[in-house]
Amino acid sequence: GMKKIIIAIDGPAGSGKSTTARLVAQKLGYIYIDTGAMYRALTLKVIELGINPNDESLITKIAENTKIELLYENGNLKVILDGKDVSEKIRSPEVTSLVSIVSAHPKLRDIMVKKQRELGRNGGVVMDGRDIGTVVFPDADLKIFMTADVRERAKRRQKELKAQGFDVEIEKLIKEIEERDKFDSTREIGPLKKADDAIEIDTTNLTIDEQVEIVLKKAYELINQN
Ligand code: CDP
Ligand code: CDP
Repeated sequence: GMKKIIIAIDGPAGSGKSTTARLVAQKLGYIYIDTGAMYRALTLKVIELGINPNDESLITKIAENTKIELLYENGNLKVILDGKDVSEKIRSPEVTSLVSIVSAHPKLRDIMVKKQRELGRNGGVVMDGRDIGTVVFPDADLKIFMTADVRERAKRRQKELKAQGFDVEIEKLIKEIEERDKFDSTREIGPLKKADDAIEIDTTNLTIDEQVEIVLKKAYELINQN
């Protein structure tokens, strides 16, 4: 039969990982795991409980007792936190501003990485995040590292926020994205980093269709080889 591979997609904020991962998974009939959504859901819980985002031991304890489910409805991701649909809430500017701090705690990452390995253990999966090709699945069949100019990424984010009813200046978004990328890249455990064997795709001047095609072509090469 056809080989069911693991595809890891990493890269900085707004480079096009989730969009690409979702469409590639759809085409291949694979499951798509948005690990950023998992960290965002936990961050939302931390905010709602009024917990200090720096309190690693409390956050770890909370994470052990939290149920995060990723469901698909008509190709759209639904994120269920302890039984409640939080798909929209996890994209709020407040969650975005705290998610990197919460995600940096090593003991919390241990728990999340375990969950992610469990979700992908049967293959046939596209997983996106920051440490998928380096930590979660270092033996992934296909590793992609997506990048794009920070201004282009900020423009994309601005458009998304506009659709959510938030008007944010481009310079402010550039600064926020640069700060988050820096924080994610310099943490001790599971930093944002290109795996040595990852294929880098700069999406600055690509359309969504083009970036999906590049990944699909590589995937089919691996799936069809025996
Ligand atoms: O979609 P966006 O690029 O804004 O970010 P995301 O993929 O939803 O991830 C949000 C944050 O979660 C990142 O900035 C990281 O701090 C954290 N994250 C992580 O630490 N490890 C992952 N595998 C995925 C996300
Ligand atoms: O997951 P990540 O933060 O890397 O990026 P994303 O959420 O997939 O993409 C951010 C935004 O850029 C989405 O609104 C996409 O529709 C848009 N976009 C893209 O992904 N690729 C392009 N070539 C152009 C726009």
